[in-house]
Amino acid sequence: MKIAVSCLNSRDIPTDLRKISVTDVDYIHVDVMDGKFVKNKTISFSEMKEIHRYTHKRLDVHLMVKNPIKFIHDYATLNTEYITVHLETKNVYKALELIEEYGIKKGISIKPNTPLDDLEPYLDCVDLILVMSVEPGKGGQEFIPSTIERIKELRKKLKKHNSKAIISVDGGINDVVAKKLKDVDLLVSGSYVINGDDYQEQISKLRK
Ligand code: DX5
Ligand code: ZN
Repeated sequence: MKIAVSCLNSRDIPTDLRKISVTDVDYIHVDVMDGKFVKNKTISFSEMKEIHRYTHKRLDVHLMVKNPIKFIHDYATLNTEYITVHLETKNVYKALELIEEYGIKKGISIKPNTPLDDLEPYLDCVDLILVMSVEPGKGGQEFIPSTIERIKELRKKLKKHNSKAIISVDGGINDVVAKKLKDVDLLVSGSYVINGDDYQEQISKLRK
């Protein structure tokens, strides 16, 4: 199982990025919010593009924005492995196409109340499916337990479609929740890691 850490709730992003960079974490999860798709807004791209000064880890970019096409060009210029767009936004196909044109892996994310069946048209063409286990918009929320059932169902769908997409889960992930998510390929965790004293220890506990 791979781990991505989100700095969304960090009070000092440069310091936290440096601390995460010396752990064995697989990715930095970059949450991007526009104040439209979700209420909150994250730092601007002009600040975000400095991220290479603090980390050489690859990035897993999560676009929680109304119009992802406007953001893909920028985030494709960073050290990005995945760009994920929300199923509930507009021009999803076009956005996925654009991500592919940049040679970046394509992700699609689904909010907790969106039916899993809505994913069907994308199962064959994406590299990653990001199942939200909280309402997108802010860090530090509690994991929604029904996500566990959704992941089982999604795994069945992927098998049926012979899809190679990996499953990622984001929101409220801590060591206790992680034990129930052994079938997940990429776990995203924010506050659980950032609020700990020893980042490597927290990450290792998620992997156990
Ligand atoms: C929620 C974000 C998550 C979140 C993770 O909208 O997409 O990435 O910040 O943080 P925790 O682990 O605190 O829920
Ligand atoms: Zn996220």
